[in-house]
Amino acid sequence: MKVVAVNGSPRKNGNTYSALNYLEKIFNKNGIEFEIIHVGNSLIHGCTGCLTCRKTKDETCVFKEDLVNDAIQVMKEADGLILGSPVYFSDIPGTMKSFLDRAFYVSTANDNFFRHKVGASIAAVRRSGGIPTYDNLNKYLLYSEMLVVGANYWNVIHGRLPGEVLLDEEGLQMLDTLGNNMVWTLKMVKESKISKPKHVKKHYFSFIRD
Ligand SMILES: Cc1cc2nc3c(=O)[nH]c(=O)nc-3n(C[C@H](O)[C@H](O)[C@H](O)COP(=O)(O)O)c2cc1C
Repeated sequence: MKVVAVNGSPRKNGNTYSALNYLEKIFNKNGIEFEIIHVGNSLIHGCTGCLTCRKTKDETCVFKEDLVNDAIQVMKEADGLILGSPVYFSDIPGTMKSFLDRAFYVSTANDNFFRHKVGASIAAVRRSGGIPTYDNLNKYLLYSEMLVVGANYWNVIHGRLPGEVLLDEEGLQMLDTLGNNMVWTLKMVKESKISKPKHVKKHYFSFIRD
């Protein structure tokens, strides 16, 4: 089994990375592979709403120059996904948001291939804005019908300078809980003999009546 984490921080080895790296040890101890895709330190085009991905249905975004299409395939092969992000102005930083909009829209346009993966979000923050960021990260997972795993608190970890989150003892316990809950959920999904619900074509209703 494999878990893929997306690091939305422009600081490759910052607090988001420290939190993901902490989780990596739990997965490795349980025989689960782990890979981090560094997104925040890259140049990533925003979604332009061209809807080409819905027409071609070839699992790609029309913008081919950045890492998004490669990352989509790595995420597609994973059993679990973690979205890790720093907090910028109480929300997801722009580069990470561009990545998530495109990757998750491509998945949705292709019968939602992220569906039923095990997922979790983590926000790294100095002081405040962690909860809206965490909520907004979870929206991508929940929209994709993923099995979103929780911990003993909402997954917000505190620190300013790189590595400071490792001093957040309550945050580390939360990561332990999250990692162990994810391992358990991944194993349950793998061993389950219960068939998954069928995919239904999404119904769009625009609220406009004439
Ligand atoms: C542009 C910018 C905006 C930020 N906005 C917030 C904020 O709204 N609330 C907060 O508590 N910290 C804020 N921070 C601090 C970061 O969230 C904090 O340093 C976090 O640990 C960074 O994670 P990273 O090391 O993974 O990049 C901001 C930092 C930057 C550079």
